Amino acid sequence: MNIKQTRDQAVAETMQSIRGIEKEMGVNYPALKQIRTELISLTADQNLFPAKDFPLDPTGGDVIYRLSEDNDHRFALYGSVGSEGKSVSPHNHSTWAVIVGVYGDEVNQFYQCTSGGKEPGPATLEQTGSFTVRHGNGVVFMPDDIHAIQTDDEVPTLHLHAYGLALDQLSDRLMFDTAAGTCARMPLMRGFISA
Ligand SMILES: [Fe+2]
Repeated sequence: MNIKQTRDQAVAETMQSIRGIEKEMGVNYPALKQIRTELISLTADQNLFPAKDFPLDPTGGDVIYRLSEDNDHRFALYGSVGSEGKSVSPHNHSTWAVIVGVYGDEVNQFYQCTSGGKEPGPATLEQTGSFTVRHGNGVVFMPDDIHAIQTDDEVPTLHLHAYGLALDQLSDRLMFDTAAGTCARMPLMRGFISA
């Protein structure tokens, strides 16, 4: 088998384990931490994810590669490639999410709502912590948890993002504007490249 075939098989086995964890344990932090363990194991061998298989787009922009998604859009796994200076404002996911590192640092900042944040409109946040996701570790989020991400590495970063439901199905997510003190529906993410 070539590297892609080996990766595809490893991804398929990992996603099968993840389906089993959610079925057995439901959606809660202990289950998500087990899912994180599965994803850290998947990414233990970085050779399965060679940088040449996950390039930035021709303009040097960020790319999200789709590695797996069920026919009913559940259990989606993406490889998120970030250029220097990638930044995503605070947002929730409306499904569970687990992020693990392959290459480079992705700084995650965690927030909680201090007012609003249930629907578009006035909303205020306070930062509750931060964690740098890199090879060998990861973070987990319940559907209402809020985070922001930033990459400052000069070489492109690669992180795996797993979600309970595919990104292009998540129409109820909220993105927060901390300066304005508001939140709004997050634009639906589309245009993933199969890897
Ligand atoms: Fe996110």
